Amino acid sequence: MTVIAKTRTLRAEPSAIATAAEVLRAGGLVAFPTETVYGLGADASNGEAVARLYAAKGRPSFNPLIAHVTDLAAARKLAAFNRAAENLAAAFWPGPLTLVLPRLADCPVSDLATAGLDSIALRVPDHPVAHDLLTAFGGAIVAPSANRSGHVSPTTAAHVAADLTGRIDLIVDGGPTHVGVESTIVACLDTSALLRPGGVARAAIEEVLGEPLAAGDTSTDTGEADVPLAPGMLASHYAPRAIIRLDAADVRHGEALLAFGPQLPSGAAYACRTLNLSARGDLVEAAAHLFSHLRALDASGAHHIAVMPVPHDGLGEAINDRLLRAAAPR
Ligand code: TXA
Ligand code: MG
Repeated sequence: MTVIAKTRTLRAEPSAIATAAEVLRAGGLVAFPTETVYGLGADASNGEAVARLYAAKGRPSFNPLIAHVTDLAAARKLAAFNRAAENLAAAFWPGPLTLVLPRLADCPVSDLATAGLDSIALRVPDHPVAHDLLTAFGGAIVAPSANRSGHVSPTTAAHVAADLTGRIDLIVDGGPTHVGVESTIVACLDTSALLRPGGVARAAIEEVLGEPLAAGDTSTDTGEADVPLAPGMLASHYAPRAIIRLDAADVRHGEALLAFGPQLPSGAAYACRTLNLSARGDLVEAAAHLFSHLRALDASGAHHIAVMPVPHDGLGEAINDRLLRAAAPR
């Protein structure tokens, strides 16, 4: 894991916003206020920055992240809006509502940020500091709540500092957040479903939709206080078509190989396709490549994918969690 020795805190002034945008461009981590809670931001399109974000939060698994954008026009470049999504965005953006929508094919957000899913969570925050930062940065910023995994969401810069000092680059202090609970998450896919209650009341959403929201189910694996209800009808994790063989010490006939590290197993020369999560054995790099490599091997037409062992320390725990799910019989 990348060790960040010093975490700076800056008052939310124009110069601080410019600095924060630069830190994000360089792949760094910046905590900033939104109207709900402080978010821990990273460049959504930079897989390694997103991997460092998971490491900083200490998440045991790669829960998909919310991509924050300046406005509806920016959101439309990332996801497909159906009628319900159009109406909800018109009514509640900017504001504490997150929409889960089908990702567009050319959506630049890293696969790791969406945990390999075909959907993406989008939100236009209603806070001047968040808005100015998004404008200065000029792209989507993924931001989970700026707390360590398992802790409550932070509503002041001091809360963020208590949890994340030494683990992130910069905290932009914009004072206490006013909503104080996270955004409401609504999936607008085949049906509209409430995935997490939050800053916009269910009744207000149902009034705009003109019909009741379906409920998600309550399965979740993050142990966080604010976890959304993982919806039964959504794929809650990425599942390849190919059969996955974990901890492979060799490569068998007809298998593709998902490698890790410099030393390839016996039979590797005969793999129908090989992709390495990180030839130098770096877990941050491996996390950044995890879903895109799995997808690419799956798309190569191989019916079986052999996966080399990945160490369990640092981000390895989350990588192994996801690999185990991908390998689960269906
Ligand atoms: O108010 C908020 O929403 C704050 C501020 C910073 O914007 N953010 C926040 O992020 O609460 P986080 O990561 O703590 O919670 C977002 C939740 C995740 O737990 C994740 O499971 C869910 O949104 N989520 C993200 N993408 C999803 C997807 N494609 N499908 C289903 N759920 C998704
Ligand atoms: Mg959270």
